Amino acid sequence: MAELQEVQITEEKPLLPGQTPEVAKEAELAARILLDQGQTHSVETPYGSITFTVYGTPKPKRPAILTYHDVGLNDKSCFQPLFQFADMQEIIQNFVRVHVDAPGMEEGAPVFPLGYQYPSLDQLADMIPCILQYLNFSTIIGVGVGAGAYVLSRYALTHPDTVEGLVLINIDPNAKGWMDWAAHKLTGLTSSIPEMILGHLFSQEELSGNSELIQKYRNIITHAPNLENIELYWNSYNNRRDLNFERGSDITLKCPVMLVVECNSKLDPTQTSFLKMADSGGQPQLTQPGKLTEAFKYFLQGMGYMASSCMTRLSRSRTASLTSAASLDGNRSRSRTLSQSSESGPLPSGPPGHTMEVSC
Ligand code: BEZ
Repeated sequence: MAELQEVQITEEKPLLPGQTPEVAKEAELAARILLDQGQTHSVETPYGSITFTVYGTPKPKRPAILTYHDVGLNDKSCFQPLFQFADMQEIIQNFVRVHVDAPGMEEGAPVFPLGYQYPSLDQLADMIPCILQYLNFSTIIGVGVGAGAYVLSRYALTHPDTVEGLVLINIDPNAKGWMDWAAHKLTGLTSSIPEMILGHLFSQEELSGNSELIQKYRNIITHAPNLENIELYWNSYNNRRDLNFERGSDITLKCPVMLVVECNSKLDPTQTSFLKMADSGGQPQLTQPGKLTEAFKYFLQGMGYMASSCMTRLSRSRTASLTSAASLDGNRSRSRTLSQSSESGPLPSGPPGHTMEVSC
C-alpha cells in the first residue's frame, strides 16, 4: 500500500534537483519544439482555429521568427524559397521559425461553409497571441508580405512589447479609398478573382513577362482547391482599415522595421536613400531571396542578434561604412532612419529603433 501511495504521488516528469516548475515547463516546451522540425500545429482562438508550422530548436532568450503570408499564397508558397535559400541557413539556425497560415489557407484546408464569417485582418492579428502562448514564446521578429505585413503591423501596434522587429514586404497600410474601390469594381467586371489576386501579388511588368514563376503561381491560384477561402482572405484584405501610422504619435511601430518596398516614389528622398536591388517586383522573397537574405542579416545584426563573424566579407565592409553613415544621419528630424544607397554604398546596421528601407 505504501508503495502504491508512492506511485500515486510521483510526478509524471519529476523535477530535477533545484528545478522550479517554471523551468520544468520551459524544458517540456523546448522538448516539444525540438521535435518540431517542420511540424504543423493548430490552436483554437476566439476567431476560429489557426494552423502554423514550426522549425528549429529554441535558443534561450531569443525571439521566434514568425512569418505571415500574402493573399493567394500560404506559408510554403510564400516563404519556402526564402527560408530554404542557402545563405539563409546561417541566420535561421539561430531562431525558431513559426510559419503561420491564415485560416483556410493551410494545405488540405476544407472549404469554409457558405456564410462563414472570415476574420478581419485585425482579428487575424488578434489570433497571434494564442500561437505564442501555445509555443511559450514571449517575443517575435515578424516577417510579413502584403496582407501578412499588414496583419503583423496591426499585431505590433496592439502588442508592442512582444515584437522585437518587423520585416514588412510591400505593405500597403491604407484602406481602399473610393477611387480604389471604383477601380477594383471595374477590374472585377473584367477579371476573375485569381487574376485580381495575381495583380495584387505581382507588378504589371512581371505579369506581362509571364515568366515561369508567374505561370507557376497563376496555376497554383487558379486551381487552388480552397479558392473560396482565398476569396474570403482577399475580401478581408480589401476591407482593411487604415493602420494610421503617425510618426511621433502613439500609433507608430515601436520596434526596428525593415521596410521592403516595390516602389520608392512614395518615400521622401530627402529623408531616405535606398539599397537598389534589381527590379524584384511584388514578391522579392521569391525572386530575390539572396538580396533579401543579406538585408535581413544586417537587420538582425543591428538588433544584436548576428555576430559580424557570421557576415560575408562584403557585408562586413559595408557595415563598417555604416557607422559613419549612421552618425551623419543623427541630425535628421526623422528618428534614426538609417539609409543605404546603391550597391556600392553603405548598408545599414544599428541599434534597435531604426527603420531600414529597402527598395526593390
Ligand atoms: C524553415 O526552416 O523555416 C523552413 C524550411 C522549409 C520550408 C519552409 C521553412
